[in-house]
Parts: sequence; structure tokens; C-alpha cells
Amino acid sequence: MSVEGKIVMVTGSTGGIGKETARQLAALGASVILVGRDKCRADAAVADLRHTSGNDDVTAITADMSRLRDVRRLAQEASGRAGGVVDVLINNAGATRSHREVTEDGIETAFAVNVVAPFCLTHWLMPALTASRQARVINITGGIPRGQIDLNNLQGEKSYVGLSFYNQTKLAQMAMSYRFAQELAATPVTLNVAYPGHAYTSMNKNLTVGTYPPLARPIVPLLRLAMPVVYGHRALLRATRSSVYLASSPEERRTNGAYFNSKAKPTPWPDVVLDGTTRNTIWELCEMQRDRPTTA
Ligand SMILES: NC(=O)c1ccc[n+]([C@@H]2O[C@H](COP(=O)([O-])OP(=O)(O)OC[C@H]3O[C@@H](n4cnc5c(N)ncnc54)[C@H](OP(=O)(O)O)[C@@H]3O)[C@@H](O)[C@H]2O)c1
Repeated sequence: MSVEGKIVMVTGSTGGIGKETARQLAALGASVILVGRDKCRADAAVADLRHTSGNDDVTAITADMSRLRDVRRLAQEASGRAGGVVDVLINNAGATRSHREVTEDGIETAFAVNVVAPFCLTHWLMPALTASRQARVINITGGIPRGQIDLNNLQGEKSYVGLSFYNQTKLAQMAMSYRFAQELAATPVTLNVAYPGHAYTSMNKNLTVGTYPPLARPIVPLLRLAMPVVYGHRALLRATRSSVYLASSPEERRTNGAYFNSKAKPTPWPDVVLDGTTRNTIWELCEMQRDRPTTA
């Protein structure tokens, strides 16, 4: 499908990879809804994207994806603004923490933003997505997409090293996405996962030394010098490639349940995602959070 005239929503799009993704989709003629936590940054991003994309049909909704009451309101507001039809949802907002923190819903924060929020937002937007004749959901993964998921430490209850735990949440998000795509098989909605590749953004600029695994800590000063050079603006543009492709490519209109790498090519899922027990445990945990009453 061409995204021209389509309603596209990108979470975490007032900065970083999400903002660049939204800029490109606006330049292709989409009606874009940005999402960030801060009204000033959201207003600035709207003005910037309207100017640089030449498309005035860019608006923003503020919501903190670590709060389920915000995620629920976001789904309602976005659906209302879009006239009940959302064509593309890119679940891009992501979080990493140096120490274990728990949200007002009692969920570990990185798990809440990276796994529970995309799950709930996609569920709560489902009426608007199914109202589109052909909606696409794209979940953005990250970290190093391999390794294990410790089902006894899903929310960092037993041990917590920021980046290692972030990595686990992204694997958990992929497992949730794989199952979600199965659930959508008989619907007009597709769901795929995109890996953006690295880019120097506020996410990694703000990492403290303690967020890195102990073995990597001695080289953190070097990483801080190298990252802006190696992962500067060109890397940021490259990091939009897989999600813009999945959102707009006519060839992928029926693709569902696939994992695309940073070059926008289908790639095998990590082994742990193919484990049914792992997937079901994560899915049930997400369902439990979705079904809990949230504070007003
Ligand atoms: N950067 C990388 O190297 C890299 C590599 C692989 C994967 N990824 C993934 O790509 C995605 C985007 O990463 P990024 O590096 O662009 O991140 P980023 O720079 O931290 O993203 C900034 C955007 O996310 C928003 N945001 C952050 N926390 C939020 C929350 N709790 N609720 C709502 N919005 C929130 C920010 O909004 P505010 O204006 O409110 O701050 C801003 O719009 C993430 O899922 C990340 O895991 C990144």
C-alpha cells in the first residue's frame, strides 16, 4: 500500500528513531500522529515535521507509555482523532533503566514500556485497526536480538543489569509479537517486528556506566567517544529503513508474523521466540496487565 492519505501512528516519535520514521512517512503523504510524553517536545516535533516533510497533516498526542491509564487514553484519543480508522501503528517507544524501577501499575518500567505497552495499545486500538481495510502493526525491537529469556526474572525480580535486562525485554516483546501475529491471522491486520540497528539517540546518550554489563564497563568511555561518530545522523536515517518499508511497501501487504532486520530483509526469529512455553507465559502476563483495572 502507499501510505499517502493513510493514518499512521508512531509512538516515541518526538525524538530519535521514531521522529525520523515519522518524518519519512509524513514526506510520503501519510497523516501522522506523533506520540511522546512532553507537550513542548511534541509541539516542537510537529512544527519540525510539518516544515521538513512539506506535509501539514502531522499532529501529536502526549502519553507516557509506562502508564497503562495513558496508553488506554492514547488509544481512545487516537481513534477519535483518526475517525475510527488507524492504518499503521508503529510501536517504537522503548525504555532502558540503570536500576530496577516499578511503574504506578506495579510493573518493572522497561518491561512496561517495551512489552506491556505495545501489547495493550495494539489491543485497545484493534477496533480502529480492523476498521482499516488493511492495517499494519510494526513492533520495534532492539538490543542484541538473541540470547535467553529467564521466565523467573521476567520483571527483573531476581537480578537486574540495565542493558542485559533491556535485551531480555526486547526478546520478550518479540515473543509477544510472534503470538500476537498468530492471533491476527484471520483478520485484516498484520503484525511484524522490525530491528532498526544502532543510532546515537537520547536512549544511549543517557546510559550510565552501571547500566552496562560489568565486562563492558571499562570500555564505556571509549564507546561514548565512538558512538556519535559511528552511529550519527546517517545511522539514524538507516534505522528507519525496516519500519518505513514494512509500513509502506505494497509487497508486504499480506506479510504477517515476520521479523525484518535493519536492512529491511526477513530474517529468522531468535530461537527463544520459537519456544511456545516462553511465548505463552509472556502473553498471559500481558493479558493480565491489560485486564487489570487502571487508575483514572
Ligand atoms: N538507538 C538505538 O541504537 C536502538 C537500537 C536498536 C533498537 N532501538 C529501539 O528503537 C526504538 C527507538 O529508540 P531511540 O533510540 O530512538 O529512543 P529514544 O531516543 O529514547 O526515543 C525518544 C522518543 O521516545 C519517547 N519516549 C521515551 N520514553 C517514553 C515513554 N515512556 N512514553 C512515551 N514516549 C517515550 C521520547 O519522548 P519524549 O519527548 O517524551 O522524551 C521520544 O519521542 C526503541 O524501541 C529502541 O529500543 C534503538
